Amino acid sequence: MNKVIVTDHPLIQHKLSIMKDKNTGSKDFRELLEEISMLMCYEVTRNFPLEEVEIETPLCTSKTKMLTGKKVGIVPILRAGLGMVDGMLKLIPVAKVGHIGLYRDPETLKPVEYYCKLPMDITEREIIVTDPMLATGGSAADAVTLLKEKGAKNIKLMCLLAAPEGIEAFHKVHPEVNIYVAHIDEYLNDHGYIVPGLGDAGDRIFGTK
Ligand code: PRP
Ligand code: URA
Repeated sequence: MNKVIVTDHPLIQHKLSIMKDKNTGSKDFRELLEEISMLMCYEVTRNFPLEEVEIETPLCTSKTKMLTGKKVGIVPILRAGLGMVDGMLKLIPVAKVGHIGLYRDPETLKPVEYYCKLPMDITEREIIVTDPMLATGGSAADAVTLLKEKGAKNIKLMCLLAAPEGIEAFHKVHPEVNIYVAHIDEYLNDHGYIVPGLGDAGDRIFGTK
C-alpha cells in the first residue's frame, strides 16, 4: 500500500539534471527522457515472473529462465507521457500501447479528458501508465480511474518528477497503485508547477510555446 519507488540511479540523476536545465533544447530533452524511461523500465519490471525453460547452448542442454509471457500494456497520458513510450518499448517490444488524452485546465488545474483508446484485452494486461509530471496528481488519478472503469486490474504509475502533494493526492484515490519516480522535487507553486521542476514537460518535448 502507498508505495513510492524512487529510481535514483546515478545515470538517471545525471540525465535528469540536464533535462531540468532551461538551456537544454527539445532534441536533447526528448532523447534524455527516452533514455531515463529505459533505465526506469528495469526497476518497474523487477517483479515480472520468470519460468524455467530448457535451451541448447552451443555446448550442452541447459535449464535457464525466461519471462512467462506476461502481457504488458503501456498507457501514456497525452501529450507528455508519449515521451516515455519508446524507451519502454525498446525493452518490452511486445507491449501494446493505449492512449489517454488529458490536459490540465490552466485556471482550475483540473484534468479534462479528450481521448481514450486502449488495447482490447486490457483486463489481462499489466498496465504501466506513463507521465513525466505528477504535480497535483489529478491527471494521473483520473487516468487510473478511467483504466479501472475499463477493467484494468494491475496498474503501475511511472513518472519522472513528482511533487510530494501529487504523491499524497494520488495515493488517497489509488492507495494500491505503486508510483515509480526518478526524483521527488520540493513543492508545487501557486500555478500547480513542480519546483524546482523542469517547466512544462509537453512544451519541452514537442517544442511548443
Ligand atoms: C502535464 C503533465 C501531466 C499533468 C500533471 O500535462 O504531463 O499530465 O500536467 O499535472 P497534474 O498532476 O496537476 O494533473 P498538461 O496538462 O500540461 O498537458 P500536455 O502533456 O498535453 O502538455
Ligand atoms: N505539468 C508540467 O508539465 N509541469 C509541471 O511542473 C506541472 C504540470
